[in-house]
Amino acid sequence: MKTMKMFLSLLMLAFAMPSLLAQPFTLPTLPYAYDALEPYIDARTMEIHHSKHHRAYVNNLNSAIKGTPMEQLDLNELMLGVSHFGDAVRNNGGGHYNHNLFWEILSPKPSEPSETMLRIISVNFGGMEELKKELRQAGMTQFGSGWAWLIVTPERRLAVTSTANQDNPLMDVVEERGVPILGIDVWEHAYYLHYQNRRGDYLDAIWNLIDWSVVEKKYGEALVSQTLMRIPRESE
Ligand SMILES: [Fe+2]
Repeated sequence: MKTMKMFLSLLMLAFAMPSLLAQPFTLPTLPYAYDALEPYIDARTMEIHHSKHHRAYVNNLNSAIKGTPMEQLDLNELMLGVSHFGDAVRNNGGGHYNHNLFWEILSPKPSEPSETMLRIISVNFGGMEELKKELRQAGMTQFGSGWAWLIVTPERRLAVTSTANQDNPLMDVVEERGVPILGIDVWEHAYYLHYQNRRGDYLDAIWNLIDWSVVEKKYGEALVSQTLMRIPRESE
């Protein structure tokens, strides 16, 4: 009930200041070429993934919200309250949010975690190898299409989770919630041309592309974010 009231208030607020927030969502330009992530992710996969799949999520999201109060909400707001906004926003808003994050954390010039980040990973998982194992397991056991995540929980711990389809841990329809700081796309469209059914090989190879400086920046931002404060703790 409290949540419903909050979203009604948000929608009323959105009506009150349409010109401030109105925006169509746009496909981000990749900060690297389609062939820059080879040999780990091939150019054709990158091109189709970004220019076809991601573009479709953006276009479908814009169609779903056009002419509605949802048009006035930013992507985080749409994700946090997605249970109120329908399947088209859940699938396509999720698709847009998830791929934005995915392109950001990949790089042809990957970087290693800092000493501080390694210590935090060690406290939460026992070490970097254990974190990699957990993420691999999350990706391998996600039946069908979905995502494996490293998230900051509302208790400010790090955790590994997975979600189906284009759901993500911000969504109020997902059981294990938090702010994602690293996401691995395990839809077949992310790897099938090069790896076919070998999802495990793709999950092993992707560590060659992770830019930990970006993940770490996202970790710092998540800890102090309004978004994290909006996600209820487990005990609440
Ligand atoms: Fe994808």
